[in-house]
Amino acid sequence: MTTPRPETVAKLTPVLTKRWLSPDAWRIGTYEQLDGYAALRKALKAHPDDLIQLIKDSGLRGRGGAGFPTGLKWGFIPQGDGKPHYLVVNADEGEPGTCKDLPLMTHDPHALVEGVIIASYAIRAARAYIYIRGEAVHAARRLRNAVQEAYDKGYLGRNILRSGYDLELVVHSGAGAYICGEETALLDSLEGFRGQPRLRPPFPATHGLYASPTVVNNVGTIASVPPIVLGGADWWKSMGTEKSSGPMIYSLSGRVVNPGQYECSMGVTLRELLELAGGMQPGHNLRFWTPGGSSTPLLAAEHLDVPLDFEGVAAAGSILGTTATQIFSDQDCPVYATYRWLEFYHHESCGKCTPCREGNYWMVRVYRRILAGQGTHEDLDTLLDTCDNILGRSFCGLGDGATSSVTSSLKYFKQDYLDYIEGRTAPKLSDKQLVGAH
Ligand SMILES: Cc1cc2nc3c(=O)[nH]c(=O)nc-3n(C[C@H](O)[C@H](O)[C@H](O)COP(=O)(O)O)c2cc1C
Ligand code: SF4
Repeated sequence: MTTPRPETVAKLTPVLTKRWLSPDAWRIGTYEQLDGYAALRKALKAHPDDLIQLIKDSGLRGRGGAGFPTGLKWGFIPQGDGKPHYLVVNADEGEPGTCKDLPLMTHDPHALVEGVIIASYAIRAARAYIYIRGEAVHAARRLRNAVQEAYDKGYLGRNILRSGYDLELVVHSGAGAYICGEETALLDSLEGFRGQPRLRPPFPATHGLYASPTVVNNVGTIASVPPIVLGGADWWKSMGTEKSSGPMIYSLSGRVVNPGQYECSMGVTLRELLELAGGMQPGHNLRFWTPGGSSTPLLAAEHLDVPLDFEGVAAAGSILGTTATQIFSDQDCPVYATYRWLEFYHHESCGKCTPCREGNYWMVRVYRRILAGQGTHEDLDTLLDTCDNILGRSFCGLGDGATSSVTSSLKYFKQDYLDYIEGRTAPKLSDKQLVGAH
């Protein structure tokens, strides 16, 4: 294992991860000893509007993929409208490669619970939900236990800490569909319907859960709220870059020595993250990687020094997404990796709109043909043409995301495709796996 250099270790900024290695970090006693619920006590003394302003001032942007400014989102909730307001935490975490919300809920569930109470108080919600993906049984158990502990200690329920504020918090397990991470499909699923995206407008801020004003935020977004309340907006902005403030949990997977979660100021580079993670596995050289999960365009070795914040990654032609950096080496095939991702999107497409439902179906078949050594040069045009008809024409972001690795792998690694088509690379799929590919 390569020892990280001291200057790269200094790059770690543990804020959301700071309690993860403490013994029994998930128990309320440990949490309270380590600053837990101090932010809530402070927040309940503040006016809700001041809390919204604080989050605006901090520059916090959503950690669920799109990077929408959180304070602005909270400010959209109409006040004095006489309707119930809801906070819904998106804990679906289905994006391939993404692994930051589940470890947070497993190791430090109270950080999320405390964030939920403060955020709900700010938007004047009396009921909040955490929608967690069905497969995440262990995390859900820890979370439910934490919620019960919070009720028992008077942090949830009626008259929280004698402030006069009431909040009920429900943990709801989904059935494990990627589309239920899309916020409007999530709301439909929570209401008991089949999880499919809703037409927008109207937006959840006015017509969300049960047609009432609703904020949907990612786990990491909400867990960032208590540290901001305690540390202040300027402290939060002292980390990260001008438009991408604060720390971020980057999850590294693939061909690295120590895969895992590394919390760093936004704007850290992959070169620095790789040093923290012990470098590439012996015998492997970086070839391609995703900056934010499989829905974000691939980057190549030439992008090692791109600042991993919203602006830096966009300038390099990709998207920061969920900061799921999946690392592939010169021993991995970008054509095959893209095919496997497409199988995922094809399987997870909810079927509501034609471009995504049909386009992913056809692209999977074209990839099977290429990988079985039976592809043609025209297949590459067909792939690009299909992507053109999916991107921007799909009903939700799943369709758009599916095209990312196709177009970017063709941009950087066209030769790999040609090597299959022209017979220089041995087929990866057999004729048997080719059923339906023509
Ligand atoms: C197909 C699809 C899947 C998504 N999955 C998730 C998810 O698992 N978790 C998440 O927080 N956001 C997910 N999102 C983004 C949400 O729609 C939404 O933008 C996010 O929850 C807002 O929270 P934030 O502002 O705190 O980032 C997904 C979006 C799409 C299109
Ligand atoms: S883009 Fe795909 S997942 Fe989204 S609505 Fe259309 S079919 Fe469903």
